[in-house]
Amino acid sequence: MKFNTRITQLLGIQYPIVQGGMMWVGRAELAAAVSNAGGLGIITALTQPTPDELRREIDRCRQLTDQPFAVNLTILPSVKPPPYAEYRQAIIDSGIRIVETAGHNPKEHVQHFKDNGIIVLHKCTAVRHALSAERMGVDVISIDGFECAGHPGEDDVPGLVLIPAAADKVKIPLLASGGFGDGRGLVAALALGAEGINMGTRFCATVEAPIHPRVKQFLVDNDERSTNLIFRSLHNTGRVAKNSVSDRVVEILRQPGAKFEDVQPYVSGAKGRVALDTGDLDAGLVWAGQVQGLIRDVPTCAELVQRIMREAEEIIGSRLPAMLGA
Ligand SMILES: Cc1cc2nc3c(=O)[nH]c(=O)nc-3n(C[C@H](O)[C@H](O)[C@H](O)COP(=O)(O)O)c2cc1C
Repeated sequence: MKFNTRITQLLGIQYPIVQGGMMWVGRAELAAAVSNAGGLGIITALTQPTPDELRREIDRCRQLTDQPFAVNLTILPSVKPPPYAEYRQAIIDSGIRIVETAGHNPKEHVQHFKDNGIIVLHKCTAVRHALSAERMGVDVISIDGFECAGHPGEDDVPGLVLIPAAADKVKIPLLASGGFGDGRGLVAALALGAEGINMGTRFCATVEAPIHPRVKQFLVDNDERSTNLIFRSLHNTGRVAKNSVSDRVVEILRQPGAKFEDVQPYVSGAKGRVALDTGDLDAGLVWAGQVQGLIRDVPTCAELVQRIMREAEEIIGSRLPAMLGA
């Protein structure tokens, strides 16, 4: 099956499905599996402890796929910021053609990537940020609705409104992100004005995701109510899976005057990584979105992408046209 949108054409991929950057999960094996399945896989730069290790991870991905893949660079407020410029240089030196940026003030990064002829997808959570990234010269906007895992921003606008609101204003191609996991979501995204979807949580529950099988089963067993919003009072909201750690963080931050330092011991990336690596679901934060309610199995990336495209084709080719019939 062939599927044509401005996204598939620009990125040189078969299907309009992108795997968003994911800390600890976005490694070569997952990115390559998504790209081999016809979508766009993304390696997450900061998962690699140093820029040199990122160079090696990119080389490793090249050995696993000859299809296009990208690298994500996430710029978030941090107690000890990583050497962003060095990671950026490693991405450029490695000859990467597509980058996903996300987070605060990407201007300097976008500029440098564009100067090197790289296609930039910028992920954001508000129409005003999308327009500002468009003015900066990015090529694609990935817009994350309130449903999403990760940082949904502070406006709380779900995809059903955010995606068409963005599509009305943004001229460059739009990827819909947050809450997507099946062919129904893909067709809905296209109907709302996007030209493809970006998925995070759904790709965590695949055979190739480099995380413990117990975490994948946790995502399958959870439902659409199984998330917590953490860091709300700190204006740095994060959507994570509900577990004893995220419950505790919510409880602590509910106390008047509570500060980041009060929850810091619970929320470190290192602890989240232990949960993903060992399957100890209460070892740290497990980032996941409301789409958990639509995840019922752990397929390979190829099976998942094929299934989404089959469902989309059935809806576009049969179900919807039948509604227009006599
Ligand atoms: C485990 C996990 C880690 C993530 N880490 C990052 C990250 O480091 N940078 C980033 O831009 N987005 C990150 N995200 C967000 C995803 O890229 C994507 O925007 C989001 O998952 C989309 O929502 P969905 O989970 O409903 O598909 C993460 C998501 C998950 C599930």
